[in-house]
Amino acid sequence: MLPVLAIPVFCVATWVSALNDPSSDLPRFGQPLNNLTVSVGREAVFTCIVEGLGPYKVAWLRVDTQTILTIASHVITKNHRIAVTHSGHRLWSLHIKETRKTDSGWYMCQVNTDPMSSITGFLEVVVPPDILDYPTSTDMVVREGSNVTLRCAATGTPEPTVTWRREAGGTISLSNWQAGSIVGPELEITRITRLHMGPYLCIASNGVPPTVSKRILLTVHFQPMVWIENQLVGAYEGQTLTLECRSEAHPSPITYWTKPSNETIANDENYKVETIPKGLYEMTMKLVIKSVRAQDFGSFRCVATNSLGETDGKIKLYRIDKPPTTRRPGTRRESKKTWKIDHSHEKKAVGMKDEPMLKGDDTGDEQIDFQSATASTSFHRHLFTNFGITAITVIVAGGLST
Ligand SMILES: *[C@@H]1O[C@H](CO)[C@@H](O)[C@H](O)[C@H]1NC(C)=O
Ligand SMILES: *[C@@H]1O[C@H](CO)[C@@H](O)[C@H](O)[C@H]1NC(C)=O
Ligand SMILES: *[C@@H]1O[C@H](CO)[C@@H](O)[C@H](O)[C@H]1NC(C)=O
Repeated sequence: MLPVLAIPVFCVATWVSALNDPSSDLPRFGQPLNNLTVSVGREAVFTCIVEGLGPYKVAWLRVDTQTILTIASHVITKNHRIAVTHSGHRLWSLHIKETRKTDSGWYMCQVNTDPMSSITGFLEVVVPPDILDYPTSTDMVVREGSNVTLRCAATGTPEPTVTWRREAGGTISLSNWQAGSIVGPELEITRITRLHMGPYLCIASNGVPPTVSKRILLTVHFQPMVWIENQLVGAYEGQTLTLECRSEAHPSPITYWTKPSNETIANDENYKVETIPKGLYEMTMKLVIKSVRAQDFGSFRCVATNSLGETDGKIKLYRIDKPPTTRRPGTRRESKKTWKIDHSHEKKAVGMKDEPMLKGDDTGDEQIDFQSATASTSFHRHLFTNFGITAITVIVAGGLST
């Protein structure tokens, strides 16, 4: 409150002394005072309609503090944000400029009849929501399995409601239920999984525009996992084939393949290594062997390593006989033995589960052989391997990040 202090007391005295005016025809209020709602900083204007004011005067008072603000066209308070205007003797307006939250309260329009007559109206100064930097959560990096609480500290008048959503849409999974949005200043997620990873929005609203939001990125770290659909692959010498592993890891892993000799594979004229990322933490690792040689029979390993650990998967290549050529007469085709880089991976990554792991040359007869070779190993499909840290734990420089 501004310093109004002793002045009101004095003013009340002079104000009251005007009451002795005799009058037969007392003034009346034209209508009740409107209640006002204004955004902080804006001007609030109460208008009092008085019919037949006669010799009386109109005063404005602040009810809560019993302060006289204006009498007739004079501003009494020292609050420089208060002004009074009138139109004739009928319309009297109290102006409260640059409103503050503390201006909220009851205001009275009073006429010094005996007894006094007055009407009151309520001023509500509202404040649009704001989100405080502290203690609102900042971007977080957590380990899978840990518990996390995201916080959003919002201010505003009336008190804002905080709602949590995922920026990309979709549901938020909590321990026993899922919801598109969660209401409350805290979002508590127990036993975080990689599915929780991504940006979240906390949205604060209280009916006073503008609504505000803050983006909090939740990053989940976990050691690599590797899935292999076919762990046992039959091939003949000279065959072209593609081996595939699917991996999930965050932070993004370093990946490589090893030969049966345990050497790390580099791209050369016989091997082609490729990784195809998908989404935030998934990838497909591919190894194309242009032409299978004797030394390729054995176990290939696909390895994914990040700061939380290393995981590998084995694919064992075993020898089968080269199938007889069964070309039909008149359909002689050129054998396509040229080395090609496979550009069709996007499509395959999507349908990977049902995609053959072995790929023959582009001739139809070899496709048939592939089918018979994989049929015997189909029970190995959907095997889940997570060798985890029992294999080799690689501590990357910088150690574990949480
Ligand atoms: C102003 O609000 C009060 C309660 O907050 C209510 O009793 C009164 O009727 C309101 N006045 C008008 C004009 O709406
Ligand atoms: C996470 O919360 C669950 C349920 O409240 C509790 O059982 C578990 O011990 C907590 N885990 C950690 C790492 O604090
Ligand atoms: C490759 O390493 C594995 C274990 O890491 C071992 O059992 C195997 O004998 C090694 N193979 C060769 C050819 O060194």
